[in-house]
Amino acid sequence: MNEDQARDERTSCGVSPGPVRLRRLRFSAGMRALVRETDLRASQLIYPLFIRPGVGVKRPIVSMPGQFQWSPDTVVEEAAAAAELGVPAVVLFGIPESKDSCGSGNLDPEGPVPSATRALKKELPELVVMSDMCFCEYTEHGHCGAVNLPGELGYRADLPEGYLLNDQTLELLGRASVVHASAGADVIAPSGMIDGMVGAIRAALDAAGQDHIAIMSYAAKYASGFYGPFRDAAESPPQFGDRDQYQMDPANWRQALREVELDVAEGADMVMVKPAMPYLDVIRAVRAACALPLAAYQVSGEYSMIHAAAANGWLDLQRCALESLVGIRRAGADMMITYFAKDVARWLA
Ligand code: PBG
Repeated sequence: MNEDQARDERTSCGVSPGPVRLRRLRFSAGMRALVRETDLRASQLIYPLFIRPGVGVKRPIVSMPGQFQWSPDTVVEEAAAAAELGVPAVVLFGIPESKDSCGSGNLDPEGPVPSATRALKKELPELVVMSDMCFCEYTEHGHCGAVNLPGELGYRADLPEGYLLNDQTLELLGRASVVHASAGADVIAPSGMIDGMVGAIRAALDAAGQDHIAIMSYAAKYASGFYGPFRDAAESPPQFGDRDQYQMDPANWRQALREVELDVAEGADMVMVKPAMPYLDVIRAVRAACALPLAAYQVSGEYSMIHAAAANGWLDLQRCALESLVGIRRAGADMMITYFAKDVARWLA
């Protein structure tokens, strides 16, 4: 017996392990449960909700089956149903009565989101209410902040027409965040990819005595075609140009790390990657580079394409929705913003 054979003899007690059979651990549901590496729980879900002014509104969003625009009164019932199933948080988007060039509707304490926030915090004090913080729903041009246009406030002849005015927008974001926090929002979630937005919002909140309000930054948000159905839902498509001048190029992942790094330095409490499914590698990279809680946004297009395929009988809705979310978890997200939140919580219950 040579040395190798002697060692084999000792470690295998003389028994050959035989062929590899990974199937042994897949045979029964119990065994699969025992060796499952990734979990999906209702407590990881954030439910996005669209709020418009009015009373008794429940208006279907055609491009997003099963999703609705709500008014501040009706949204309470929908959020309560989700909370009852174990969903801990909602994120609110507003559709204002009217739009203008600087999005002043976002500064209105009686606007749809602050009104809904007050109603939700009154009836469901434990529910985490996040305010999506962006101007695109409130500006008539549909861009995410103040834009350089002749005749408009702050016009600069040295900048191109249609250029998003970064620092003016920061000032507006700070003011709007204080309005939303004063209405009871627990988390401000800036989604405009405006440079310096986290720092500006942190400073404005702190100056207003809102130092207990958290910031979840849409840190790595890509200029994505998958937002198509949302722009219907929030009635916010850009009226000219596109968002490529401020949202990230889908081809970049290293730049996402830089975006995250800056937001962390500016005081973000949580960071986000958006969309989710086409950017699983970015989720994984951010997870590895950053210790903050990480959210991923399964956006409107990801939701609607599963629905559309299911409506054609091509995909199983429940199975594919769950599989997509487990994939996002496996990539490294701690929590998911998803239009499936209520459905998933029900399926898991
Ligand atoms: C607003 C905003 C958008 C989404 C969330 N916040 C749209 C956009 O940037 O065009 C997209 C969400 C979705 O598609 O579900 N800035």
